[in-house]
Amino acid sequence: TTAKAAAIGPILITGGAGYIGSHTIVCLLEQGYNVVVVDNLINSSLAALDRVAELVNLDDAARKERLVFHNVDICDRNALKKVFETSPTFHACIHFAGLKAVGESTKIPLKYYHNNLTGTFFLLELMDEFGCHSIVFSSSATVYGAADKMPITEETTVGTGITNAYGRTKYMIEEILRDFYNSKTLGESGTTDWSVVILRYFNPIGAHPSGKIGEDPDGIPNNLMPYVAQVAAGRREFLTVFGDDYPTPDGTGVRDYLHVMDLAEGHIAAIEYAGKKEAGTYTFNLGTGNGCSVFDMTKAMGKACGHEIKCKVGARRPGDIATCYADATLAKTKLGWEAKLTLDEMCRDLWSWQSQNPNGYAS
Ligand code: NAD
Ligand code: WQD
Repeated sequence: TTAKAAAIGPILITGGAGYIGSHTIVCLLEQGYNVVVVDNLINSSLAALDRVAELVNLDDAARKERLVFHNVDICDRNALKKVFETSPTFHACIHFAGLKAVGESTKIPLKYYHNNLTGTFFLLELMDEFGCHSIVFSSSATVYGAADKMPITEETTVGTGITNAYGRTKYMIEEILRDFYNSKTLGESGTTDWSVVILRYFNPIGAHPSGKIGEDPDGIPNNLMPYVAQVAAGRREFLTVFGDDYPTPDGTGVRDYLHVMDLAEGHIAAIEYAGKKEAGTYTFNLGTGNGCSVFDMTKAMGKACGHEIKCKVGARRPGDIATCYADATLAKTKLGWEAKLTLDEMCRDLWSWQSQNPNGYAS
């Protein structure tokens, strides 16, 4: 165990076997933190954590100490409680666990509300009971709905115009976290040692530069870049561009894509901020501040893989917005974090992962 881990407790990572969680764990372990992962593997595979251990050079003994895994559903309160009972007091929790497929959430909304909200209730109750009072929550730019002014700052209205149940779970959890935090300040002193950091991610893409871990969607990818990567690899014939008649420079949707390794670093900055600052609730956009169109992305990926990405323009996807990109200055001034990696690096690393693992972790 590192000096840092000996001085502070491990970080609890819900959903740590997933895409963003696994990349964040690499950074945490490299920076001397120990982690305890809780994941029910509903959208991920344990192979991701095996690769993480390999990347960070953890042998079995070190892994037992530094990268502990529990196959637990956070909606199973008793099982989650056991994790708290059998672990040292956590320094902080990064709460990634949740269902995230936008389209699916419109078909089975109750499952989404139950999984994402109930899991969060139990987590907060147990954190409170077991003395872990610092949470970093994975929110999303989706909470802004169809904002009419770009770039989007943290002051932009949230909660109106969200087009799907998934997005509303994020908005609701944000509100719940704020209510929960405020309830803690109602005592005599008016203060609490709780801190809540809400991170609103824009569009994370790419993979660890080794190409050993990456995003491994089940079935037909819902998101642009995992789909484009499969077209690049010849697993799918062409990309269907969801509309080229948006009011954007080339008519296709514009988003703020950021490298998943930059995003991972943002979580370390958030934990450290919560540890240093007075208790409070803080909300940060994590993005690059640049907007890229679908065609910008297919061109950049074509450069990375060495051949053109075939595209066919189709209909708009219901619920999509034209443009969404961040004003990320608050994260820079408060967290000291900014995205550093370029679009070409995002595509290079995505291609490295895709070409080495054509069928994801099952390869
Ligand atoms: P992911 O699906 O790869 O990771 C989420 C993990 O949570 C998975 O490993 C899954 O098995 C686990 N999980 C789900 N429900 C669980 C439960 N009840 N108990 C235990 N584990 C459970 O997704 P990701 O892309 O890594 O996203 C991580 C978080 O960030 C999610 O909350 C997601 O909504 C949020 N987010 C993602 C994006 C994105 O574009 N990827 C953007 C904004 C916000
Ligand atoms: C990007 C652009 C599409 C696929 C979603 C969620 C959001 C967040 C990230 C979690 C858009 C276009 C896509 C395709 C296409 N997730 N596209 N053909 O829509 O910004 O956000 O994922 O919080 O909540 O809503 O990302 O990658 O799906 O789409 O033309 O096959 O690519 O229309 O313009 P989006 P995306």
